[in-house]
Amino acid sequence: MASSQLKYMSLSVLVLQTTSLVLTMRYSRTLQAEGPRYLASSAVVLAEVMKILTCVLLVFKEHNYSLRALNSVLRQEILYKPIETLKLAIPSGIYTLQNNLLYVALSNLDAATYQVTYQLKILTTALFSVSMLGRRLGFYQWLSLLILMVGVALVQVGCSFMSKEAHSAGSQIVGVAAVLVACCSSGFAGVYFEKILKESKQSVWVRNIQLGMFGFVFGLFGMLVYDGDRVREAGMLQGYNAVTWTVVVLQALGGLVIAAVIKYADNILKGFATSLSIILSTLISYFLLQDFDPTRTLVCLRRGVSCLTLIWVMNKKLQDETNPKYQF
Ligand code: C5P
Repeated sequence: MASSQLKYMSLSVLVLQTTSLVLTMRYSRTLQAEGPRYLASSAVVLAEVMKILTCVLLVFKEHNYSLRALNSVLRQEILYKPIETLKLAIPSGIYTLQNNLLYVALSNLDAATYQVTYQLKILTTALFSVSMLGRRLGFYQWLSLLILMVGVALVQVGCSFMSKEAHSAGSQIVGVAAVLVACCSSGFAGVYFEKILKESKQSVWVRNIQLGMFGFVFGLFGMLVYDGDRVREAGMLQGYNAVTWTVVVLQALGGLVIAAVIKYADNILKGFATSLSIILSTLISYFLLQDFDPTRTLVCLRRGVSCLTLIWVMNKKLQDETNPKYQF
């Protein structure tokens, strides 16, 4: 498949995956009433296991289903290159923290407030791309980012007042603080991973196995520290049902899609693609989950759509800029 096709295909799958993950996660944490709640920390660990297994299968496929070749690649690239492998511990540790923070956020904020606030990661990603990758952004690109930020702030104000659910001011602050820390970690870890990926020839799936191995260790540690007593009491899979497993699979899929997007496109385009899921998840949140006051939902949506349209129109102008790669 041509690389531009792979680029747009990975970006489209990302929009769908982000939208479904947010809605299912939100439903699984708050709206699904019956039974005990599952441990978010155990879902993070299981998603890492699923990612590692899928990536091993993908490397197996890359090497024409030869077990010998698979064994040799894994040894050569992971076991015999400890320094290269250790480099992945940094984004992995940050992602593990981030994955747990997002559960905190979605336990305290409605899906749309969470989703739009999290779009601030576009700005942090741009700042890290400029400082760590030496990327240069043109005037319209910075302006797009600025408008996106203002849009995010506007929708955030609108959405937090319109949610049907009564959150205490305290839990709103906890939720927003969790998302803001996640924005910084997302920007840094994403750009760091892109740097590692684009500076070496190693397969993206091997890199993902390295990332997942550390993710598994950190996640397990986090689960034992925070939920150790509960795991000993009722096991790691307490409260799991079909919805929980869907969240785990979607989160694992997300890791794979994001890795593909970083490889075939880049982190900035990834940010713009996920912005589209604001509109989708706000719409679905309203129609399926009835998460909002209907009269105000339209105001919120209108703001979101206007900002994205403006950004899209401005990004058309990027064709004239020195770096047409970022046209969206
Ligand atoms: O929100 P953001 O785009 O930063 O989310 C990144 C998510 O993708 C995290 O959940 C992280 O664990 C996952 N990821 C992954 N493999 C990669 C890159 C990201 O699993 N190579």
